[in-house]
Order: sequence, then structure tokens, then C-alpha cells
Amino acid sequence: MSGHGEAQPMISAKAGALSGTALIPGDKSISHRALIFGAMAVGETRITGLLEGQDVLDTASAMRAFGATVTRQGEGAWSVHGVGVGGFREPEDVIDCGNSGTGVRLIMGTMATTPITATFTGDASLRKRPMGRVTDPLSLFGTQAWGRKGGRLPMTVIGAADPVPVRYALPVASAQVKSAVLLAGLNAPGETVVIEREPTRDHSERMLVGFGAELSVEKGPEGHVITLVGRPELRPQTVAVPRDPSSAAFPTCAALIVEGSDIRVPGVSQNLTRNGLYLTLVEMGALIDFENPREEGGEPVADLRVRFSPGMKGIEVPEERAPSMIDEYPILSVVAAFAEGRTVMRGVKELRVKESDRIDAMARGLEACGVRVEEEEDVLVVHGMGPGGMPGGATCRTHLDHRIAMSFLVAGMAAKREIAVDDGSPIVTSFPVFEGLMNGLGAAIRRG
Ligand code: S3P
Repeated sequence: MSGHGEAQPMISAKAGALSGTALIPGDKSISHRALIFGAMAVGETRITGLLEGQDVLDTASAMRAFGATVTRQGEGAWSVHGVGVGGFREPEDVIDCGNSGTGVRLIMGTMATTPITATFTGDASLRKRPMGRVTDPLSLFGTQAWGRKGGRLPMTVIGAADPVPVRYALPVASAQVKSAVLLAGLNAPGETVVIEREPTRDHSERMLVGFGAELSVEKGPEGHVITLVGRPELRPQTVAVPRDPSSAAFPTCAALIVEGSDIRVPGVSQNLTRNGLYLTLVEMGALIDFENPREEGGEPVADLRVRFSPGMKGIEVPEERAPSMIDEYPILSVVAAFAEGRTVMRGVKELRVKESDRIDAMARGLEACGVRVEEEEDVLVVHGMGPGGMPGGATCRTHLDHRIAMSFLVAGMAAKREIAVDDGSPIVTSFPVFEGLMNGLGAAIRRG
């Protein structure tokens, strides 16, 4: 669990031209879900390409605590013997989800309609994050939750003994909330309906269908109406986890801003609920070729060739694109600092409740590196300084946030002077091989 250990300062110096192939580990969202859906199926689910980041390992431990048998059989190869829908047993101890909002929220949903009690906690970052967005809709099933002020962890959840199905319109665009409600709906009789105005990542819907649940999605005037028929018998699956487009963003963006770079990033998801960053980069003038479009692990993917792109211009990022690139704004704001002109990111207030307040963390760090930014509750504006223009020479605070740490280490690769981060230890939550992979391409990242 990140943030429980020592801070790990890291430093990134100017890199030479990047070259080679970046083999990105498995998708974090799909890895959590593969373990959780596997635990809900009766029989053995086999997973390949599982992300072995700390967030996912914490979810694996949690599934064991609820009664599933989860074993690692080789690198990225895992087996889950599930207990069936409604088959969770009561854990003997507190469930520690470490740094992972996805882990804790999906697991709360999964146990919410089984008559057991579980207490959840996490690291200092997760204990600050709001859980009411999940426990409010879960209470409609009959679930009770008692947490700290503001719906914060540690929190005890008492599953509903006689759950009723729910119809819930999401008040925020959140795949975690959507998934928690659908997972709770699995053990409620009848139809559970979730309505989302803007589409968010749809891995839960795709995997529920794959595991044999009856689920339909209709587009209506209210948005996407997702209907799940409760109490299915989920059938175990073989899940091949595709590579994580959110992790792929870091070497991709590094190659765009480091002079002379030319790299390949194979198997990057083109799922429309995940590819907003890549659309945005192309609009800015990034030199990215999308080769070999195909399906991998049930997701549309392409192989990327990415080249140094000195002609990038700042743009207004369409607000409605936010859910499809919500985790990518930190690294986009770094690219924006190396483009010409202003990049305006609106409709981004959800960034304030991620692993850190990402608007504040990026704004303060970029300012420390000599970049002009403007910030409102729901807006971040970065004034680009052109290729190689960022002065750097600062230490940026990461606030236990892996994506903030990786974003500033990428910035250091192209800035005039080195950039340090006060704590790179959270990188293990999502991209444990980041340092070696980036240095293999030509980065000069070292421990401080
Ligand atoms: C995730 C959903 C997003 C994203 C997170 C992963 C998921 O969170 O930021 O990294 O796997 O469902 P929200 O649902 O809170 O937007």
C-alpha cells in the first residue's frame, strides 16, 4: 500500500532523443474488474496480463478476505476461484485498499447487497476522498454505511439483507459510481438501472456481458440507460487484460516533447471511453500514427508510432471529452507547457477529488517550473512556452499521487533544468516499471 512507507524523492534530467518500443503493463481499471468479477463467478477465472501494481494487489487481497481463492501463477497470470453472486463471506479484519479509489468503491458495491459487514480504510490520500458518492446510491438498495465526517474512510458498510433493485441517475460522470451500483445490482432481485448523461469508461458493462450477465445499454434523451438483470449466475472467463492507455500516455507524451524522439507504443486502447487524450494530442498537432487497428482482450487497440512534435499548438479541450481522458489531464498539462499558445481545460473539477487535488498539484508544480497557469474551480489554463521552453529547476510535490509524480518526471525530460519530485513512491500503484521503461527509451530518471 503506497504512502505507508518512506517518501522516495526522484529526479529527471534532460533526455536525449527517445527511441525503442514501450511495452505498457495491463490496464488498471480492467485488472481490478477481472479480479472482482472473477470472485463473483462460480469456478475458475484465468487472467493474463494483469497489472501487478499495488492498487490491483490490494484488490486481490480484498477478494481473498471476502472468500475467493486468488493465486498468482506467473508474471501477470492469475487464477480466481469465485464464490458466486451473493457468496461473499464476512472479512475477519479491516479491508485496506491502499491508494485505490477504484478498488474501494467497486468492492463496497460488490458487498453492499450481501448481509455481511466490512470496514474499509486506505492510505492518507484515499482517506481524504469522498465515499458518499457511492454510499448514497448504495443506501437505496438498503445498505448502511458509517464513516468519518464528509463520508470519509475508515468506513463500515453493512450489506442489505433484503436488497431492492435501484434506478439511479449518476449526478457525476463517474465509472466508479456506475460500476459500484451495477455490482450491487448483481445481488438484487429484478432490474437495476443506471443512467449516465455523459458516457464514462464502459469496462464493467463489457465484462458483465462477457461473464454472462443480462445487461443492455440504450441511448435515450436522458443519456445512456444501462439495465442489469439481477441474480445471474456469472460464468468464469479467461480474461486477457489489454495494455493501459493511461500509462501509455507517459512515454507517448515524453516522445512528443523530447527533441528527436521516435518511439513505438503497441496495443494502445482506442475505446472511445478512454481515448480522449489521443484525440486531443492529434488536434494539437502531435505526430502520432495509429497503425494496425485490431481487437485485443475485447478492446479496440492500435500500435502507436510517436515522434517529437515541435509544431504543437495549445487548444480548447472540448468539455464533453473530459470523462474519456479524466486521468490524463496532468500529463496533458505538461505537453501544453511545451506547445505554443494557451491550452484551456474546462469541466475538470472532478480532478480535485482524485488521488490528490490534481488541478492544484499541477498548477503549483508547473508554476514552480516557471510556467504560467490560471486556475478556477473547474478550469485549468496552461500558457505554453514552446519546445524546450520550460525552465524547470524545481522540486514538485506529488501529494501521494502517482500521475502527478510521473507527469513532472516527464516534464524534466524536456525542461531546461532538472525537475525533482518529493515522492515518487506512489508510482508503484499503477505503473511499477515506469522508471526502467522510461530510462530504457532514453530518459535520465534517478532516485534522489
Ligand atoms: C476509474 C474511473 C475513474 C478514473 C479512475 C479509474 C475506473 O474514476 O479516474 O482512475 O476504473 O472506474 P471516476 O469514476 O471517479 O471518475
